[in-house]
Amino acid sequence: MSKSDTSLKYLNTFSIAANAERIIIATNSEELVSAWQQAKDSFKPMLLLGEGSNVLFLEDFDGVVVQNRIKGISVTESETAWLLHVGAGENWHQLVCYTLEKGLPGLENLALIPGCAGSAPIQNIGAYGIELKSVCDYVDVLNLDTGATTRLSAAECQFGYRESIFKHAYKQGYAIVSVGLKLRKQWQPTLTYGDLTRLTPESVTPQQIFDSVCAMRRSKLPDPAITGNAGSFFKNPVVDAELVEQLRAHYPTIPAYPQPNGQIKLAAGWLVEQAGLKGLRIGGAAVHQQQALVLINQDNATGSDVLALAQHVRNRVADKFSVWLEPEVRFISAQGEINAVEALS
Ligand code: FAD
Ligand code: EPU
Repeated sequence: MSKSDTSLKYLNTFSIAANAERIIIATNSEELVSAWQQAKDSFKPMLLLGEGSNVLFLEDFDGVVVQNRIKGISVTESETAWLLHVGAGENWHQLVCYTLEKGLPGLENLALIPGCAGSAPIQNIGAYGIELKSVCDYVDVLNLDTGATTRLSAAECQFGYRESIFKHAYKQGYAIVSVGLKLRKQWQPTLTYGDLTRLTPESVTPQQIFDSVCAMRRSKLPDPAITGNAGSFFKNPVVDAELVEQLRAHYPTIPAYPQPNGQIKLAAGWLVEQAGLKGLRIGGAAVHQQQALVLINQDNATGSDVLALAQHVRNRVADKFSVWLEPEVRFISAQGEINAVEALS
């Protein structure tokens, strides 16, 4: 279905006022393939969008934006797990609520993450001690040229911290059309992060975790319905232990999280705050006051304003800590996605 309005302002949570040449809503695989063919026939780029909560439009998009709205949730079971098959266009948070209402716990730590279920595998969404990786069974990917769908196992998705194969081999010419989730019947709470550590493991309920996660998120993160943003703008940097030792000598309170491979994850928000950048404004874009890792659209920001602010933040953090931040947000130019690190360099 083609929309007459070509504004992308309400289709990206940054609320950047860009336009597309055309916007289409796809509710099944055939519509995705047909949109791709039409775009190719007219030598135009096509951009797939879920809910636009992890993109930055740098300028108008000179092609077709396709909103993936493939719906449907079905639940089956094995002896040990609930098995969910979820259409890529389902809203992630509503899915979390649906599973809790049905008594299928396991997604509660991932409450309130914006976006579609089909986008969740792309950066292996994570929050409050859990990543999609731990509940993902499979991902169905549609080849837009052939119309064939391939099922990738969780292992084949090559999940990492904000990483997956969908950012590499399956980036162009493919669409995620459904996701399989596996929720263990023997539920175990994950209470490793923030206020969750105060809950009692023996008696805590999934609903209490859900409520606590929602409360923490609401207290820190700006609501995109009120203030445009795309969540964490940068990834938390994973660096060598030697660098952290050097930094700790100057900054004894630096938050540092050891990783299984011996490297250390730093808190980018802390680095940005310590660089004195909270509240800094360039054009209509600003560094959020409560969470310095979030860049916000304070007042009719353009994509260029956000880019200039991100460049400034990245350079100041590198000057002070010798750490180069990498964007988590995907940068979209007139012809499609561009390399975000190169755009900031
Ligand atoms: P979009 O932004 O629409 O798309 C993201 C990318 O995926 C684009 O490159 C797009 O082209 C591509 N794409 C979209 N759909 C498909 C498809 N079906 N097939 C193939 N490619 C596709 N993320 C976390 O991990 N943890 C958090 O805690 C978190 N908190 C957030 C809080 C806020 C307030 C906001 C605004 C964002 C937050 N995010 C978080 C980021 C965001 O919610 C996730 O990245 C989410 O999965 C993006 O979903 P989306 O549908 O909006 O994707
Ligand atoms: N911090 C500061 N100042 C700030 C922000 C954070 O000092 O302005 C410190 C905090 O005090 C804490 C540490 O940095 O010691 C980590 O902060 P927080 O718990 O807020 O989490 P984060 O590392 O900033 C990550 C994810 C979020 C996810 C939360 C909760 C990334 C890039 N971000 O944020 O994901 O919701 O943890 O698990 O990994 C997203 O990806 O868009 C996102 C919001």
